[in-house]
Amino acid sequence: MITFPGTFLWGTATAAYQIEGAATEDGRGPSIWDTFSHTPGRVAGGDTGDVACDHYHRLEEDLDLLTALGVGAYRFSISWPRVQPGGRGPVNERGLDFYHRLVDGLLARNIAPVATLYHWDLPQELEDAGGWPHRDTALRFAEYARLMGEALGDRVTTWSTLNEPWCSAYLGYASGVHAPARTEPAAALAAAHHLNLGHGLAVAALRSVADPGAAMSVTLNLHHVRGVSERDADAVRRTDALANRAFLGPMLEGAYPRDLIDDTAAVTDWSFVRDGDEATACAPLDVLGVNYYNPVLVRQWDGVSARETADGHADGAASPWIGCEDVEFVRQPGPYTEMGWNIDETGLTELLLRLRRDFPATPLMITENGAAFADVPDADGRVHDERRVDYLRRHLSAVAAAMAAGADVRGYFVWSLMDNFEWAHGYAKRFGIVRVDRDTMRRTWKDSAHWYRDVVTSGKLPA
Ligand code: NOJ
Repeated sequence: MITFPGTFLWGTATAAYQIEGAATEDGRGPSIWDTFSHTPGRVAGGDTGDVACDHYHRLEEDLDLLTALGVGAYRFSISWPRVQPGGRGPVNERGLDFYHRLVDGLLARNIAPVATLYHWDLPQELEDAGGWPHRDTALRFAEYARLMGEALGDRVTTWSTLNEPWCSAYLGYASGVHAPARTEPAAALAAAHHLNLGHGLAVAALRSVADPGAAMSVTLNLHHVRGVSERDADAVRRTDALANRAFLGPMLEGAYPRDLIDDTAAVTDWSFVRDGDEATACAPLDVLGVNYYNPVLVRQWDGVSARETADGHADGAASPWIGCEDVEFVRQPGPYTEMGWNIDETGLTELLLRLRRDFPATPLMITENGAAFADVPDADGRVHDERRVDYLRRHLSAVAAAMAAGADVRGYFVWSLMDNFEWAHGYAKRFGIVRVDRDTMRRTWKDSAHWYRDVVTSGKLPA
């Protein structure tokens, strides 16, 4: 039996485009994900977020779900195109009203609102004007942050600027498997920079208008990278530079790592970084959000044999791994989740301890962790998802192990509260602890939801 501190924040996480639906209601504008999902061939099954989990119309029911789960916090994202349809100009009050009701509903239930400003749904008009590779997008993002700080800053407990900028930059602009589906490596690095800059500007904007007690944060999908052998140290270094230090460097240390700039020199001279940008990106943070699903295994590629690309990008297709052309992503031993991601919680402990070593003053929060499985309801409609329970139990033990070794971890959010739109995979991949019936939208607790309720209400992890 493991006991977590009484102050530990337990939550579940979602994102606007993945659950809200109501894609054209109350003045919401299109985002790059509307465009992407409506482009044939982009999303499995032709799925879109038009209806998603219909959360926009089922807010009260979903809030009650959170109450019944007993969580102390809820991580959601604000849809930028809902509250500022073209990404500039005045607030769309009808869209904003939804978030007033959400935040008030959470507080009335004693659940801390953890709001993410950007979970990938860039207003389409801003993409048409150049998107994240274009500097102005960072300035627009800061303005949007200020507007949200003014509207909700008296009540939101924790603000997170960006969710997984790695995905926004490299999957959106280099490999193109995410919106806006561009395959331009130089633009992807410029996007990464403008995300970093936008983050810093947004933190400053939020601090100037929000309650001084609100915590400032960002969520990164840090990769725990391991080499097959010691000879693969350079492959580990390159992968780590592009995946992790491209964001940790500017955001937490105020500088891009020299090796990242060298590794990517054939692609860009980084002239989009202006004097002062790195200092701006390095706005002081109260907590760093970490999303963790699986570790990454790499080895040096010999340039001759068929290359493994076990991270999911098809060989020959555009790669998100700029500057890692001689790196092989090696398939790891199972078991695997339905995403094909291997289950290995030791990477989470190691990652948290690395962050403690590198950034001892920065508290951490697990803002996402969870697993997709092909859940099959039984005759009574129950979902006995023991593999998900096992996944969560393993990873919570791994968090506890890191804490016992000194990592300052303040909370944990399961991805996800409910089955939802899993981006390019559509609805086929189910991450929820609550099942959503695609025909009726009915929510049904899986066994993992019952199990999680017991964990969060007791603060204890049964052996
Ligand atoms: C990362 C993202 O933040 C979230 O939107 C996604 O659904 C999960 N991880 C699972 O892939």
